[in-house]
Amino acid sequence: MEQQPLKTQELMETAKALVADDKGLLAMDESNPTCNKRFAKLGIPQVVEARRDYREMIVTTPGLGECISGAILYDETIRQQKKDGTPFIKVLTDAGIIPGIKVDTGAKDMAGHPGEKITEGLDGLRDRLKEYVQMGARFAKWRAVIDIGEGLPSRSGLEANAHALARYAALCQEAGLVPIVEPEVLMDGAHTLERCFKVTEETLRNVFIQLNCQRVLLEGMILKPNMVLPGLACSSNKEVKEAGTGEQQHQARLADRPPEEEQDADEVADATVQCLLRTVPAAVPGIAFLSGGQSAELASARLNAMNVRFKSHRPWALAFSFARAIQQPALEIWKGAEANVEAAQQALLHRAQCNRAARRGEYTAAMET
Ligand code: 13P
Repeated sequence: MEQQPLKTQELMETAKALVADDKGLLAMDESNPTCNKRFAKLGIPQVVEARRDYREMIVTTPGLGECISGAILYDETIRQQKKDGTPFIKVLTDAGIIPGIKVDTGAKDMAGHPGEKITEGLDGLRDRLKEYVQMGARFAKWRAVIDIGEGLPSRSGLEANAHALARYAALCQEAGLVPIVEPEVLMDGAHTLERCFKVTEETLRNVFIQLNCQRVLLEGMILKPNMVLPGLACSSNKEVKEAGTGEQQHQARLADRPPEEEQDADEVADATVQCLLRTVPAAVPGIAFLSGGQSAELASARLNAMNVRFKSHRPWALAFSFARAIQQPALEIWKGAEANVEAAQQALLHRAQCNRAARRGEYTAAMET
């Protein structure tokens, strides 16, 4: 079979559209086990109907398309419809939101590498991508997981994950889908910000070596990295100090947080952008961060600080592709009840608006009051 030429122009245009107008991505591609875990914590039934209702609440949020450029769906969700029978894909497209799809099949234990994971899903991927394209998807996502620990990550763990990401990205582009390349260095652990910097730098170096080896068009992809942060169990981590409910965190912020918080955001912004400047080629149109377990407010504040401090000093757009940092407040309000849909949608839209403001460097703590 003769290979089709790469749809270079289309890939470049989609990638640009995903980070245009200060918008960002909404990751709503939790696998069923992950979604069920989050539902269980709030006493929501862990069944397909509840997952569908939840996703309908999200995709029908009025005004979402003003802040969200693309939504990443899961295999179950991309096949679902609203209660009135309208496919979610159509709801999103009508709202001006580009539909995307998570295509990896999860991070599994890596043989011979205790404590490390390798993401699976390459077998049969070419055919699965074809089906998603027919359904209307225009971009895809694959997440690699890098854990920091004693002697971890290993060189071979980094190389194997980067190689899989690059193989996936090449197959996506062949199918006409923009690959979101997501190497996530996890926040779990007691490591310092400096160690996260080193591991993220090493990870991204490997990723771009492999992307180049596999002839991936850099102009036709989006990078989805972690921010450079201290580990959750590190004493300098803001999340530790802020542990508590969203409301408790909010009260703490209103009390005396802003100066200290600004300093934290500046530190994270400087470390993150310095790391990216060293490793990410200027040809990549956009970098859309994952939130990784940061609170919604800290994720916005840190993205904002990057866009303020490096406004004219960076070659790519600095955007967001958050799941928890956009969805969590809305999920906690929704709790599975039809009566809470409107309030949950307002909370979702509010987070999307905060993050759009953060892209412009216009987010302030006052937006949270
Ligand atoms: P979080 O923003 O919750 O880290 O999720 C992003 C994501 O898409 C994980 O793959």
